[in-house]
Amino acid sequence: MAGFEIAGVVLGSIPLIISALEHYSDGISTIKSMQKYQEVFEYLHASFVTSLAIYRNTCEELLSPLALSDAHLYKLLEEVDTRSWDDAILDANLRNRLGTSHLPFKSSLRQINKKIRKFADKLRLDSNLRPPWVSQTGVVDTQARSQFFRNPLTRIKGGFNSEKYKELLSSLHDDISRIQALTSGAIALEPLRLERKIKASSSYWNGFHVQARTLYEILDVRWSSQCVCQCRHQANLRLEIQKGLETNQSPTFKFLFSFDISPSATPVPWRWRAVEIEPCSGAIPAPHPKAPVLPQPVVSHSASVQSPWSHCLSSAPLIKDLCEVLTSQQQQARCLGILNDTVAKHHLHSLKLPKPNTSSSQQVTLQQLLESRSGSGFGIKEKSRLALTLACAVLQLHDTPWLAETWTMKDIYLMDPATSSLLADQPYVSKSFTPKPATPSQQAKKSRFIRNSTVFALGVTLLEISYGQPLSAFTTPDDLDDNGNRTSMTQYFIADRLAENIHLRELRNYSDAVRRCVYCTFDCSAFSLTDDDFRERFYQGVVVPLQKDYEYVSR
Ligand SMILES: *[C@@H]1O[C@H](CO)[C@@H](O)[C@H](O)[C@H]1NC(C)=O
Ligand SMILES: *[C@@H]1O[C@H](CO)[C@@H](O)[C@H](O)[C@H]1NC(C)=O
Ligand SMILES: *[C@@H]1O[C@H](CO)[C@@H](O)[C@H](O)[C@H]1NC(C)=O
Ligand SMILES: *[C@@H]1O[C@H](CO)[C@@H](O)[C@H](O)[C@H]1NC(C)=O
Ligand SMILES: *[C@@H]1O[C@H](CO)[C@@H](O)[C@H](O)[C@H]1NC(C)=O
Ligand SMILES: [Zn+2]
Ligand SMILES: [Zn+2]
Repeated sequence: MAGFEIAGVVLGSIPLIISALEHYSDGISTIKSMQKYQEVFEYLHASFVTSLAIYRNTCEELLSPLALSDAHLYKLLEEVDTRSWDDAILDANLRNRLGTSHLPFKSSLRQINKKIRKFADKLRLDSNLRPPWVSQTGVVDTQARSQFFRNPLTRIKGGFNSEKYKELLSSLHDDISRIQALTSGAIALEPLRLERKIKASSSYWNGFHVQARTLYEILDVRWSSQCVCQCRHQANLRLEIQKGLETNQSPTFKFLFSFDISPSATPVPWRWRAVEIEPCSGAIPAPHPKAPVLPQPVVSHSASVQSPWSHCLSSAPLIKDLCEVLTSQQQQARCLGILNDTVAKHHLHSLKLPKPNTSSSQQVTLQQLLESRSGSGFGIKEKSRLALTLACAVLQLHDTPWLAETWTMKDIYLMDPATSSLLADQPYVSKSFTPKPATPSQQAKKSRFIRNSTVFALGVTLLEISYGQPLSAFTTPDDLDDNGNRTSMTQYFIADRLAENIHLRELRNYSDAVRRCVYCTFDCSAFSLTDDDFRERFYQGVVVPLQKDYEYVSR
């Protein structure tokens, strides 16, 4: 600023030049150029303030876990001076937090501070980066303002240089975007802080998982060879949001049973049956089972955590023909009996789930739903609900016939899309039981960058949910081979590109979850959800952040 004052004195002493310039243009254009520069100035200043706010938010996000004193934080965020960042302890913490991004971060920081000072100088802002006519308390002195813009020196200099100022501002903005990308990328890759106490969850998930698999086998045994009703049964398993870890409760499974009616014209005995299935204890006549079957990380003696159905265990009949029992099912919720198979026992209750209308076209895939919205995508509530549901589904149904290893949006169904709130009900996965052996899924050629296809598939789906379009809509020629064909790498290339910029459209928690799924960055060596450590990291790194978003949005 001192430099400018000197220039002001020097130039101010030669008013002749200025009046000559003023005469050169006519009076009207002088007023015009004055107003014009005022507009330009206001635009530049507003953009500058916005960039600064983004810059401070980014730094604050980076610094807030470091537990700095308020005064120190204030210095770092408000003072345009890199020296306050040179503290040795702070530097070590930042290196720890940013990893290899640390050096690029520091050099961008220096650039930013330099450009802020330069820009403030050009616009003649005060040391608090305010225009000279705005007081400490934010009061605008209108007289000083019009004097400022009437000053021919300001006007001419400003007018001549406004393009340069814009360039400077845009380069400042680029630097800020760079540190934004550096910090959010580095933070997302930060090692997951695992709470070891959650080890109890392992047996819960293993139990859940075994139950899901067993249930499929039980239904398959009963329905894969043709059922007496001559129809092809279909089981739609409802995907549920896991509300915390209810490790002291047995998992329950909600189904909509229906028929696969596409090829055959055989009249089906019924359209839909809603049923809840719960694994039950081995001793059928025991009125108060003390030990739940598989999932038993916590042996609880409290009556409140027992299944609400335990009272009917003693009287429940054995189910011989499942199809017949479903056919005669009444409308009201009631106990249907016990499936007594050699592997496990399951208690069946009819439910009142929202049922789809009778037409078979009522079932749509998530992919079809997304396409039907032609790019408008999902609202914020739908999005966070869907994202969390699918992350839970991966956790619960991986390595079971319910969810293929390379699943996509086409494998997720919605049952009642005709009603106004499209995701009012939860999504389902669907399986038809056919007499012929299931065709072995062709092994798609895997990209060597994809460490785990199931988790990567979740990353892709989260991207599609966020962008409101299928991944393929973002294909560029670089993603294809020389003939313009897709390759085994195409999907990864697109996902990589979209994930890199996900922080520009999503909040931190969603972005972190997406990046971890796409890059499989969980800081561990095993990459299968059957591995306890990996599953725990997946839970903490993907499910928990999505849950935070969901709770935040649905509050
Ligand atoms: C049902 O379970 C009981 C006890 O486990 C067993 O004795 C019985 O044979 C089973 N019945 C059928 C039909 O599987
Ligand atoms: C589905 O059924 C409900 C009531 O049974 C009705 O109000 C609604 O219009 C139906 N939707 C379609 C698409 O037929
Ligand atoms: C790749 O593209 C070429 C030219 O369009 C086509 O002839 C060829 O069949 C494609 N190859 C594959 C494997 O799809
Ligand atoms: C990825 O995880 C799935 C689900 O747990 C598992 O079946 C698969 O083997 C894993 N893939 C690799 C390469 O570890
Ligand atoms: C993101 O998650 C963190 C903890 O994991 C939480 O403190 C924060 O509030 C979450 N953000 C939002 C917007 O929900
Ligand atoms: Zn049947
Ligand atoms: Zn019962």
